Parts: sequence; C-alpha cells; structure tokens
Amino acid sequence: MKKTVPSLLKMKQDGTKISMVTAYDYTTASLVDASGIDTILVGDSLGMTMMGYPDTLSVTMDDMIHHTRCVTRGAENTFVIGDMPFLSYQTSIEDAVYNAGRFMKEGRAQAVKLEGGAKVCPHIRAITDASIPVCAHLGLTPQSLNAFGGFKVQGKNEKTARQLIEDAHAIEEAGAFMVVLECVPARLAALISKSLSIPTIGIGAGSGCDGQVLVYQDLLGMTPGGFKPKFVKVFADIGEQMKAGFRAYDEEVKSGAFPSEEHTFRIDDELMAKLESENHIEGSQA
Ligand code: KIV
Repeated sequence: MKKTVPSLLKMKQDGTKISMVTAYDYTTASLVDASGIDTILVGDSLGMTMMGYPDTLSVTMDDMIHHTRCVTRGAENTFVIGDMPFLSYQTSIEDAVYNAGRFMKEGRAQAVKLEGGAKVCPHIRAITDASIPVCAHLGLTPQSLNAFGGFKVQGKNEKTARQLIEDAHAIEEAGAFMVVLECVPARLAALISKSLSIPTIGIGAGSGCDGQVLVYQDLLGMTPGGFKPKFVKVFADIGEQMKAGFRAYDEEVKSGAFPSEEHTFRIDDELMAKLESENHIEGSQA
C-alpha cells in the first residue's frame, strides 16, 4: 500500500518509527521500495553524492526534477519527497509555490522539503495552500553552510536551542506535515519530537525522533573519500563489494576469461564457414 501523509501521521500517533532514505535514481528507488522502507527523500545531497560538488549549493531545479522523475518511476509504495534546492524558494513565495508545483507535476513526488524555520513559514503556508505537502528541515540546514561557517551541530546553547523549539512550533503551525531534524543534540530533538504532533525525522538527532533518515551511500559504505560522519552507521559494505566486483571484471576482461561460452550467442557453423570464406578470414572461433 502506498504510504500517504495521513498514514505517516498515523505512524507517529501509533508510536511506529518511520524509516526514510535518500535515493536519486530508478534502480535504487526500486530496491528501496522492495525493502519496505516508508519514505524516500530525493535529497539535494545529490549535488555531492551524484554530481561530485563539495556541497548542495549548485544544485538546480532541473537537476532535482530529473532525479525525482527517475525515483518516482521506481517507488511504487514508498512515499517520495523532493528536496527544494538552494534559491528555488528563498527568492519569493511565488517561486516557492511554482517550484514546489514542478516537483508534483513533472517529478510526480508526493511532497516537497525545504530548509528553515520561522523565516520560511509564509512559503510553507503558501505551498500547503496549493495542496502540496511540505516537510520542513531544521538544525544543520546545509543550504546555510556559509552562514553557519561549516557543518556544525545546532542548538547546543540556550539561545539556539530555544530558537529551534520556536522554529519547530512555527513550521507545524504553518502547515508542515513532517520535519527533518539534522545534527541536533539527542535530548533536544526528543523534546521537540514529544512537543509536536507532526513526525520528526532525525539525522544525527538521536533515537527520540519519530523516524530516521540517512543518505543511502553512507549507510551502504559507498563514500568515495571514506569520510563517515559520527551519526552514520554502515549497514552493509556495498562500496567494498562494488570495488571487488569491478576488479574481478577488469581482471577477467584482460585475461580473456570473460565472456565464456555461457555468456555467448551461437550461429550456425555452415553459415559461418561460408561467411569466413567470403571474407577471407580463417578460424574466427571465439
Ligand atoms: O539532501 C539530503 O539528503 C537531506 C538529508 C540529509 C536530510 O537533506
């Protein structure tokens, strides 16, 4: 059964944890869908994981729509959230509604995500008024990297902790149906989760959140530089398995062991003899 906004809200009410993972393409989305994970985030983290940028700032709406389309084709039952990239909503409320609409119309997503608290509440309100569900994102919001001065845990002192609590209430009040809490101290995230009626999805925010999200390359050990943030757990070392598979393929191509008879198509011997004689080629036996 396809997950929906009401079914995700009910999971919070029932105390059932919500699983979320990023995906950026059809194949991965199909595998996530088959695994029973509840939600896919087509994160603007694709700027790093798929496009090789150092951060998310250069990702465009067209990049996001392209990847969201690929994912939604593979996500039969999984709820798909498209991540609004830098400057696709900060510029004006009109831009926010128009670009959120593109995720639905062209990307076929079920919801959008945007970063920020009280400042983006007018945008959240306008997008939800257009019947587009919005997931907010608080704490370490990577699009504000330069304002924060780096990837740092947020809400550690009284002022910023109070600000986070206020922002969480503001985005719920503005109509957000879910909120991602990124790199927030675990006890603060648990307090926020208990005080909201919408689900909180944590990443580096402890087990008191209503659900968890990880970037799929992180949880499958597929990070090229090997960097692993403190909040990441590697659940399967697919990166190592991929490297071993690529190495074995390379060796067999070079040694001629691949392709063998079982991977090869046959042709009639008489026809081949005729073709060899016409082309003055001897023994084209593979
Ligand atoms: O872009 C992304 O993948 C995200 C998650 C890390 C929450 O925003």
